[in-house]
Parts: sequence; C-alpha cells; structure tokens
Amino acid sequence: MRTAVRLLASGGRPPAVKTLKVDLGRRSYEIHVGQGLVDSASEYVTGTPSSVAVIADEAVDERYGDRLSRSLSSVGEVHRILVPSTETAKSWSQAGEILSRLAELKVRRNDVIVTFGGGVASDLGGFAASVYQRGVSLIHIPTTLLGQVDAAIGGKTGVNLPAGKNLAGTFYQPSAVLCDVSVLKSLPSRQLRSGMAEVVKYGFCYDSGILDVVHNQTQAIESSEPSVMEDLVGRCADIKARVVAQDETDNSARIILNYGHTFGHALEAAGEYELWLHGEAISLGMMFAANLARVMGLLDEEGVEVHRRTLDRVGLPVQGQFDPKEVVGAWLIDKKFQDTQRWVLLQGLQNPVVRSDVTTTHIEEALPAVQLSSPMRGTP
Ligand SMILES: NC(=O)c1ccc[n+]([C@@H]2O[C@H](COP(=O)([O-])OP(=O)(O)OC[C@H]3O[C@@H](n4cnc5c(N)ncnc54)[C@H](O)[C@@H]3O)[C@@H](O)[C@H]2O)c1
Repeated sequence: MRTAVRLLASGGRPPAVKTLKVDLGRRSYEIHVGQGLVDSASEYVTGTPSSVAVIADEAVDERYGDRLSRSLSSVGEVHRILVPSTETAKSWSQAGEILSRLAELKVRRNDVIVTFGGGVASDLGGFAASVYQRGVSLIHIPTTLLGQVDAAIGGKTGVNLPAGKNLAGTFYQPSAVLCDVSVLKSLPSRQLRSGMAEVVKYGFCYDSGILDVVHNQTQAIESSEPSVMEDLVGRCADIKARVVAQDETDNSARIILNYGHTFGHALEAAGEYELWLHGEAISLGMMFAANLARVMGLLDEEGVEVHRRTLDRVGLPVQGQFDPKEVVGAWLIDKKFQDTQRWVLLQGLQNPVVRSDVTTTHIEEALPAVQLSSPMRGTP
C-alpha cells in the first residue's frame, strides 16, 4: 500500500489530495481523497479518449453535473446519461438502456465512462462499463459516504434481479476513484448516518483510531466538516484497498467486510428495501453480531457496549422492530445462493474471525438484545 500526498497543479486548487493505491498488478489503480476533485476530474483521465460518458444519478447531476462536465470537457465531448436516484435503477432493463445509449452515442473502446453518484450509480454504471464492448475504461466519482468508503472501491458491480439483490454483476476494476469529500455536505443526514455504519464497521474490525475520531468529532461529522471527512474516508478507503488487494474476487479476506451484513441484508430484504437504509440495517446487524459473539464466548460485555455507544453516537439504530421469522426467512433465502452460512464475528475488537458453527440456539439467545418488543414490523 502506497500513500502519497500531492498538490495538483491547477492554479493552486484543490488543496492536498491523499492518494492510495489498490495494488492489483496490471489492474492496480489509485484512490484520490480530497476536496474539489469534481472540478479537477479531467486530470485523472488517462489515454486518449475522444469522449467521456458520465453515468450519473439524476439528483447528483442536477447539483454537480455542470461542474463535472466543465472539467471533463477538456478531455473530449461529454455525454451525460442520467439514471433515477433510487435502488430501482439497478435493474437489468436500466442497464440495457444505458448500453443502448452508449451505442447510440458511438462511445468507443478507447473512450472513458465515469460514474457519478452513490453506490447505485457505481454498481450500475460499473456493470455497463464492464460489458460495453467487452470493457471500457472506468472512473468512479462516488458522492455518498457509502460510495466513498465502500461501493466504489474493489470492482464489484451489480444489478438486481427479481430473485434477489446484486444477483447479476461482474468484477471490473476502475482505473481511478475520486472521493471529493466536499460534496458530502449536501447529503441528506439520514444518508450520511447510513454511510457512517460502514465507517464504524472498519473501526470495529480493523482500526480503533476510527472509533476515536467518531467519538471525538461527532459534531464535525454531523456537519460533514471536510477535514474530518477526509481523515475518515482516507482511513476507510485505505483499509478497503488493502483488503481488496489481498482478495480481489471475494474468496477469503474480503468476507470480513461483510461484518453485520448477514443479519443486515436479511433485515433489508424483510423490509422490502424500503423500511431500512443499508447502513441502518447494517448497524442492527453489527449489534446482532456483537451479541452473537457474546453468547458464543468470543466478545465480552464491554466489546458489545463499545458497539452500542459508537453506533448510538452517530444516530444509528441499536435496536429495532422486526419479525424474527421474516428476517431468518430472508437469510435462509440468501443462504440458497451460498455453500455455507459463514458469519463474521469479533473475537475481541479489531480481531475478526469467520465462523460456520453458529447454531439456532446462539441466534435465539442473541436476538432479544436487538429486538424492540412490540409489533411485528416497525420503523427504524
Ligand atoms: N459494489 C460494492 O462493493 C457495494 C458495496 C456497498 C453497497 N453497494 C451498493 O450501493 C448501493 C447503495 O448506495 P448508496 O448508499 O450510496 O445509495 P444511493 O446511490 O442510492 O444514493 C442515496 C441517495 O443519495 C443521493 N445523493 C448521492 N450523493 C449525493 C450528494 N452528494 N448530495 C445529495 N444527495 C446525494 C442520491 O440521489 C440518492 O437519493 C446499493 O445498491 C448497494 O447494493 C455496493
């Protein structure tokens, strides 16, 4: 892992940009974290493209699209392909529409595709880039916290099928990822909190320094203070880059990044992807995993309490109303697509382990700690 700080030449702006490397041999690329990267995006385009196709979340395009186009216009003709700002955009039909549009625009193999938005834009646009003419150069410009610390790094692309989320997709690494933390200012606060679940996850599993920042800089995080977000995004992107470099196609080390996700994905599915935002479900998933580790003798009470205090500190749920039968049913459906049900648990903080010996009794003992007693389904 190489970390460098560089100053861009463009008129002294933007200030320092932190550069991290995802070391994947021929497919290596850099992640740049800083302020003002939307305005200097053209500096990160390589090759000799004659056009740039931006696949953008329509709400993000409305807010920042002109600035991005202005920068990219120095590279070539800029085409803007807009997609709805909702998870439903990650569909097979939307992917097909994007591919047809790329063909109509006569985008060629040596051109560049840029995704601009949250995880929906990078998953969908990344998928299109990976299959259009068997693969076109790709740059992600993630604009949500979740996108900057997770979705845009590591090359997983995906669209949802009626049978389940992300069931179609590819591994396709971008040539660069630009994390402009200044755009996080406009993120709705519920979205920002949702992204904080992934940030905190890196803190529980790998880096206690992240938990210190969360506790000491809570107000600055709530207002997306760029210097603090730069620190957090840089730390998390660095961890993700290292994990991806060890296990590009998700066969070993990368599974740790799924901490809290077995329960969280099931909760999202049980709520039909409307009731809970991803990070809210993962927050409860991590509380559940912490309690599971407690009942299995892996994590002490203080470890569980660190989970509760930290998630609560950033306004994420630590208990919720849900029907356990629906949630367990959803993870059994998920299990159909895997060989075994593997749980990422903590054998002490910052010491993740993968276990396949979780029993129904362990689950029944851990569930009450995260379940608010009352109606079958409720609000987060
Ligand atoms: N590929 C991966 O490794 C990976 C990892 C995690 C999640 N994901 C995927 O990511 C998706 C969720 O991504 P997400 O949480 O980023 O949500 P999202 O892409 O749906 O964006 C959330 C909302 O925020 C708005 N928004 C985005 N940036 C904004 C900004 N700067 N200012 C104001 N509003 C802004 C969007 O318009 C949208 O309404 C899911 O589909 C999930 O499956 C993929």
